[in-house]
Amino acid sequence: MNNTGSGFAERAAHPEQGPPLWLLAELTYRCPLQCPYCSNPLEFAEHKQELTTGQWIDVFSQARALGAAQLGFSGGEPLVRDDLAELIRAARGMGYYTNLITSGMGLNQSRIDEFLDAGLDHIQISFQASDSEVNNMLAGSRKAFDQKLAMARAVKAAGYPMVLNFVTHRHNIDQIENIIELCLALEADFVELATCQYYGWAHLNRAGLLPTRAQLEHAEAVTNRYRAQLAADNHPCKLIFVTPDYYEERPKGCMNGWGSIFLTITPDGTALPCHSARQLPISFPSVKEQSLGHIWYDSFGFNHFRGDDWMQEPCRSCPEKHLDFGGCRCQAYLLTGDAAQADPVCSKSPHHHRILAARTEAEQPQPAVEELTFRNERNSRIICRS
Ligand code: FES
Repeated sequence: MNNTGSGFAERAAHPEQGPPLWLLAELTYRCPLQCPYCSNPLEFAEHKQELTTGQWIDVFSQARALGAAQLGFSGGEPLVRDDLAELIRAARGMGYYTNLITSGMGLNQSRIDEFLDAGLDHIQISFQASDSEVNNMLAGSRKAFDQKLAMARAVKAAGYPMVLNFVTHRHNIDQIENIIELCLALEADFVELATCQYYGWAHLNRAGLLPTRAQLEHAEAVTNRYRAQLAADNHPCKLIFVTPDYYEERPKGCMNGWGSIFLTITPDGTALPCHSARQLPISFPSVKEQSLGHIWYDSFGFNHFRGDDWMQEPCRSCPEKHLDFGGCRCQAYLLTGDAAQADPVCSKSPHHHRILAARTEAEQPQPAVEELTFRNERNSRIICRS
């Protein structure tokens, strides 16, 4: 199915639709790291344009006027933008709660001071692994691990809550005990142990990333053991464990429903209902051409999967459809070629066998880390040409 704007009649607007609450500003696709599970589009090298400082501030202002309250700065690596402090200051001046989602590469004490002065509320630093060898191999940088350690300590010393994120997969999930110990040694307040989800580069490398069921169960058991001990000790650290969709029988209510509360703006100003929607064969509007109010309430792209008129069976008659909204549209598209299908994670989906096949595949030997396709300009250009 080709879900282009021209192939469908414009959907009626949804008068019950409330405002966007969360704005994710993907400031850039540039990044010094090369993680093979990056959720950025495979063809990111084709999207070099970035909104100017003034255009971003205008986007923040429009979204705030609509009702958005939380603003995340991400990328790529948002620290490559020299105007980041200026953007934070502008967003805080509008009353946003601001969150920087970073690898820590490009951070230093003077930028931390600058962000504090600009009013930044929250910084989340991501790690690839608990030791420098695996971390640096996955990141594609020999300096990454030491830099991350230093910056995690500096962020904590600056008074921010320490929020660490580890994307786990078959090459690092067995380190879970060491990962948690590292987080405790760094005095983390929140730790997100997020098993890789398969979009963008992670989808391309899925066979080499999906952990076995035994790996996943071990990691969850270790996390639960630590969680219980931390609670018994009245320890402030909170561990959040995110299981991969591929080991679920019911899909997640992705983005709390399409175009429900989340609004993502890509580096070139394309507005999306989620960070992965760019890969769908739907034309999405640009903030350079339309107002955010029109984009949010009236555009084809944002209205396309709102409500449940678009649903096919088994979603249409499913009693859980208002809980999971049919699952993830991007995952449905990646696994079936039709974004209007039920998310194949659901055991009721006629395509659930694809999830079962991926689980079976995970039990087989898979490529080593070095054989994964790393997210970099060269590989992106090769993918674009193919
Ligand atoms: Fe796009 Fe789930 S990631 S709808």
